[in-house]
Amino acid sequence: MSSTSTAVATSTHEAAEPVVWLNGELTPLSEARVPVLDRGFIFGDGIYEVVPVYVLEAGDAGDQREQVRVPFRIAQHLARLARSLDKVGIANPFDEAGWRALIARVIEANEAAGALARNAHANVYVQVTRGVAKRGHAFPAGITPTVFVMVNPLVMPGDAQRAAGVACVTAEDRRWLNCDIKATSLLGNVLMAQNAVEHGVFETIQLRDGWVTEASSSNVWIVKDGVLYAPPRSSKILEGIRYGLIEELAQDCGLRFEAREIDEAALRSADELLVSSATKEILPVVTLDGAAVGNGKTGPVYAALYEAYQRAKAREAREVLQALHTTRATLQEVEK
Ligand code: PDD
Repeated sequence: MSSTSTAVATSTHEAAEPVVWLNGELTPLSEARVPVLDRGFIFGDGIYEVVPVYVLEAGDAGDQREQVRVPFRIAQHLARLARSLDKVGIANPFDEAGWRALIARVIEANEAAGALARNAHANVYVQVTRGVAKRGHAFPAGITPTVFVMVNPLVMPGDAQRAAGVACVTAEDRRWLNCDIKATSLLGNVLMAQNAVEHGVFETIQLRDGWVTEASSSNVWIVKDGVLYAPPRSSKILEGIRYGLIEELAQDCGLRFEAREIDEAALRSADELLVSSATKEILPVVTLDGAAVGNGKTGPVYAALYEAYQRAKAREAREVLQALHTTRATLQEVEK
């Protein structure tokens, strides 16, 4: 980053320019360049991930508490990345340890550059495209995937939005039938997000032939008579990392969960309606197409799951801190 941009950032109290990783190098965001023949640009031929990396306090008590960076459910995110890459025949450029190290490095670089406060949660975006080649639909031989990692402050719903809940609308799901692949070709999802904006609401919940699939960038859950339901894992939805997590949280809360097809009538008569994603965690929906969901207020199942979600974060923070203590102890032994 140039000294000029540092000065500007300091004087306006704006964050400094992010540093991104592109094909083996750390570069200021404004200087990162991809050739126009990159298949990500030409065809949307790429895979991505969004990983929330929290800053959380962990430790026993009082002055022993420490702030740690917690790449939440990262093993699951990296497993999904590997699965998606495999499904479209792009070689995974790194193994899990490689990705973890790279993500930590890009976060550190952004902290050092002043683009990410040391106490700010991070939104880590990872993208791998098939690479650069003369335009032609089928896979070109012998090209190297383009690897991009970007870190931004994680913007999450605020307390007021959580307390009030959000509004959603419905629309027909017109996307392809490989929605389980986290592909960068997201035009169908982009149109659904725009549809929400044009209706002045938070999200569009999609139905395919009368059955709920998912929202533009979230999974969808309903509660009826105390039971939590979500559409089953299939190629019609992206299996969110929060899908498995919320299944676990439901168990924590003593809540029955069933993966079951949800028709339009069940959606519209739900007691509670929830959406989940890396950036929203879990969020209550209180109106759908202008009509109240249940009693029109956020419900007890949402509250229980949200609390359980925060406990899951705290558990991971403790694990990260324990691993850090082990590393420090080993280092002390080595240095003796
Ligand atoms: N989107 N379904 C779709 C279509 C999504 O785009 C997402 C997340 C999810 C939830 O997945 P997860 O729990 O792993 O975040 C479901 C990310 C956040 C995005 O595209 O920015």
